[in-house]
Amino acid sequence: MPEPALVLAPRAVTFDWSAVPAHWVPGEPLATHVMNTLHLVLPEGERWFVHVFGQALPHIRDDKLREEVIGFIGQEAVHAEAHQGAADHLAAQGLDPAPFVDQVSWLFRTLLGDRDLPAPVAHQWLLERLAMIAAIEHFTAVLGRWVLRAPLERAGADPTMVDLLRWHGAEEVEHRSVAFDLYAHLDGRWSRRVRTMAVAGPVLLWLFARCTRWLMRNDPLRPGPARLRDAHRAARRGLLPDLAGLLRATWQYLPRTYHPSQDGTTDEAVAYLATSPAARAAAR
Ligand SMILES: [Fe+2]
Ligand SMILES: [Fe+2]
Repeated sequence: MPEPALVLAPRAVTFDWSAVPAHWVPGEPLATHVMNTLHLVLPEGERWFVHVFGQALPHIRDDKLREEVIGFIGQEAVHAEAHQGAADHLAAQGLDPAPFVDQVSWLFRTLLGDRDLPAPVAHQWLLERLAMIAAIEHFTAVLGRWVLRAPLERAGADPTMVDLLRWHGAEEVEHRSVAFDLYAHLDGRWSRRVRTMAVAGPVLLWLFARCTRWLMRNDPLRPGPARLRDAHRAARRGLLPDLAGLLRATWQYLPRTYHPSQDGTTDEAVAYLATSPAARAAAR
């Protein structure tokens, strides 16, 4: 049975970072920093989503999709600023992420930014970037579902950070079809969908691994090197997603008949948003 239509709207959440410790999963600096990578990559990445979707808006010929895209833009803009707050908190604790964020900015603003191209080629560049965003949004939904269920409290993880991750994850699940539907509406070629996933999947993995290593190396508490075996151990405890699951998820995106609505329901996300301290405070 199809799910009832959701009206996507941003929630104006705020978080008080002042009491969040540096290693907010106690005794698990690697798990802490793997999840901290989101604060370094997402603000620039999600601002890029907003920018590219803004360029796509005038091309949309479907009122419902236009409304969903506007809701998506609003949600991603709030996500970027929420993670920016967490990144600023890292800087206040002596781990200034600016040198790494400069590299992320180059990736999104220069390599994947606007180019001075003749109109037909510029349109193809827009479609290529929309397909890339659809591929990236496949992973944000997978990670969103993961974080809604991850036993982070059992490990003593800081509740403010857990709420940030779950509120964000829930909205990723909530809007998981929008980027895919926008790409399908404006182009939808399967070859481009597969090609952009073939690029986005490995590049994201490389970027997040590189970012984790950078955070571990520059952590003033000197937690030691980023070791793969520590990541596997944390994944076994449920504190990180496991690589095999991410590879399986990549594979699931490839069939011609795939649509993100096939990936579970939105119920779990909606249920979390009803209890999230930040989302509830924003609704008041
Ligand atoms: Fe997001
Ligand atoms: Fe998203």
